[in-house]
Amino acid sequence: TQGHVLIVGSLNMDLVGRAPRLPKPGETLSGTTFATIAGGKGGNQAVAAARLGAKVAMIGATGADSYGDILRAGLAAEGIDGSGVATVANVATGVAMIIVDDASQNAILIIPGANGTVTPAAISQHEALIRAADVVVCQLEVPHDTVFAALQSARRLGKVTVLNPAPVSAPLPVAWLAEADYLIPNEIEAATLSGIPVDSPQDACIAAQRLRAMGARNVLITLGSRGLVSLTGEDTVHYPGTPVKAVDTTAAGDTFAGGFAAALARGATVHDAILLGQRAAAISVTRAGAQPSIPYLHEVESQA
Ligand code: RIB
Ligand code: NA
Repeated sequence: TQGHVLIVGSLNMDLVGRAPRLPKPGETLSGTTFATIAGGKGGNQAVAAARLGAKVAMIGATGADSYGDILRAGLAAEGIDGSGVATVANVATGVAMIIVDDASQNAILIIPGANGTVTPAAISQHEALIRAADVVVCQLEVPHDTVFAALQSARRLGKVTVLNPAPVSAPLPVAWLAEADYLIPNEIEAATLSGIPVDSPQDACIAAQRLRAMGARNVLITLGSRGLVSLTGEDTVHYPGTPVKAVDTTAAGDTFAGGFAAALARGATVHDAILLGQRAAAISVTRAGAQPSIPYLHEVESQA
């Protein structure tokens, strides 16, 4: 059986250049390769949830331009319901300019464009999509008041809510934390939100407890190659990572969030949903680019 996942979030075209190292301010440097790749945390999570077994709908926006056409066609090709994705005149589709160096470090400049036009009004306009969902997932690449409206509306309608607080540069208002049934930050975001530096799984357990004390319900802190720490109920659990040869970690966190949501939506236990998200994310880091790197359920199952 398939569960229904609604993603409220961003669509970006990723403009990805590779270079031996990142350029310094004022420097002109020659790179090696360039590609335009469908991305954006919202779009990536929608694609992940769809490839990992859910019926997916999305609320978001693109500009009326060629990048927008490509991104919307990409969602449709995955069977994602894009009726909640607006095409907005006179604003550019969101882009992420990404430079990746030989050490797989990156520098990213995001220009939100149309993502900035997703207002709380879009949430009330598309309430039917929320009603149809089992799980509603948000990130922070659309305006924050829109995210808050989406989480509140979804909770009021009895849906399971997931917040991937990415990117985040300051603690969120405390009232927010309780609107997410599952808060899924990475280690940097967990440190920003909790005020506790996170350099180890032990630190992540402490940060998760602090977030709980601040009002969060269930907390899953992703730790890259060091796995994940969960705090659900009273227990903190460390799920170690699977060792893989990393090629490009772009969208690894999105693959986890989308896979986790897809599994929850079809009634999996939290434990099984975490394992699916982790396995899918581990595959995604062995492949280049955001959406092209996200695996299908059969690929994850054949490795399990
Ligand atoms: O999480 C990865 C995504 O973040 C990229 O696809 C890029 O668009 C940025 O939004
Ligand atoms: Na990847």
